[in-house]
Amino acid sequence: MSDPSIHDESTTPDNHVFVLFGATGDLAKRKILPGLFHLASVGLMPEDYRIIGTSRASSALTDDEFRDLAREAVLTFAANPPEGEVWERFAASLSFTVTDPDAPEDFARAVHAAQRAIGPTARRLFHLAVPPSATTELITLLERSGLNEESRIIFEKPFGVDLESARELNTIIKSCFDETQVFRIDHFLGKESIDNILALRFANRLFEPLWNRDHVRFVQIDVPEQLSVEGRGAFYEATGAFRDMVVSHLFQVLGFLAMEQPTSFEASPLRDEVHKVFQTLRPIDPSRTVRGQYEGYRAEEGVAPESTTETFVALRAEVENTRWKGVPFYLRTGKHMAQSRQVITIGFDEPVMRLFPTGRHTPEWRGNKLVVDFADPGSIHAHFLTKEPGPRMHLEPAQMHFHYRDSYLETGHLEAYEHLILEAMLGNRSLFTRSDGIERLWQVAAPLLEDPPPIESYAKGSWGPASIHDLIAPDEWCLPT
Ligand code: BG6
Repeated sequence: MSDPSIHDESTTPDNHVFVLFGATGDLAKRKILPGLFHLASVGLMPEDYRIIGTSRASSALTDDEFRDLAREAVLTFAANPPEGEVWERFAASLSFTVTDPDAPEDFARAVHAAQRAIGPTARRLFHLAVPPSATTELITLLERSGLNEESRIIFEKPFGVDLESARELNTIIKSCFDETQVFRIDHFLGKESIDNILALRFANRLFEPLWNRDHVRFVQIDVPEQLSVEGRGAFYEATGAFRDMVVSHLFQVLGFLAMEQPTSFEASPLRDEVHKVFQTLRPIDPSRTVRGQYEGYRAEEGVAPESTTETFVALRAEVENTRWKGVPFYLRTGKHMAQSRQVITIGFDEPVMRLFPTGRHTPEWRGNKLVVDFADPGSIHAHFLTKEPGPRMHLEPAQMHFHYRDSYLETGHLEAYEHLILEAMLGNRSLFTRSDGIERLWQVAAPLLEDPPPIESYAKGSWGPASIHDLIAPDEWCLPT
């Protein structure tokens, strides 16, 4: 039987017991509980389901306290308020149990009871919304309680901090779970506009023939953030922008942009193609990387006074295969920058001949650009040149725009986490990352982690240190636009 895939029409999962580890944490409150409620509101939860929140005894809650926490989370972060029959039903599905690593039987009892309540065929899905330090203990708990059998499990990033730790983590996971049970989340792959790259490229004839080194001059994946480290100083200090954003999110986006057409959208062929890109991604060259730190970062709570952690990184990546050899992929991301954007730009070569004279408004570089803005709800823009009306052959820049918001009803929209949790309930692994892919990315990252260039400071609200321009010259950053 073939794997489920994004071809499948069915969007109603089997009945489920959803167990949320880290249920009192930030991710649960911001994304997971509001996401589950939104899925319930739009009819995408199973016919019958139970949600068990769980945490260590130190943050234990009663069932009612957990319902209050979920209500508050939905009120603050969900698009729709916790009201009416749908909320009543959702609230009734919630319960709380303490995770005691030394009492796996108690935990198993709570899960089995919930399962019995909704029928023996109900599936179990565990979501580990916990810091990496807690992962091993919880995997052991699941194994000791026998609940690893026939369950599915979602892991959050980060998957290790380097190749060695990622391998260790994958070894532990594989000792208790079959790979078909494992769903490693990279929430960027749940964003509509990132999935839409597949449609844009492979459902149309307009772009794909040009999507290669014969026509593309550069690719930019630019994710500046206005946010600071937002009270996550201690986490960030040990992580930095490169591990937090590039090794995970930006490389995954690059995989979707650069891959060959898969034979289908089932998990295996799709992830095989992404993996081939990672295999041909050249190890990152520290001399083609800029590491920045915003002014004032060292005064943040949890940050060392002499910290050399980067809050900004820009680099040139290269995919060495027949399609892409010689095309630079410029990646940039950072905190406390001028704008919050999530933008992919494909810069096309200029026409072979410059037939048109340079006029007053003709831009210096005459290549076309295809811009995918993948911040939800997302948009796509084609930049090209037109002739200015009048007797002279003067060129003017022009644009064609597609906005999700203008073309589709927002009601169908799922936020990245909602989309991915739904896919995990449906058993479709297409949009989840794979252990060998993650390990390969840490391998690619190794030269930079081992020999990082010195940190350069940048002003809050800027686009990063001044050296980012030399990094990509004679090309230019497409943002700000
Ligand atoms: C997270 C990073 O994975 O992604 C954060 O840890 C970052 O530092 C966030 O701000 C960005 O995600 P989103 O949902 O805003 O696209």
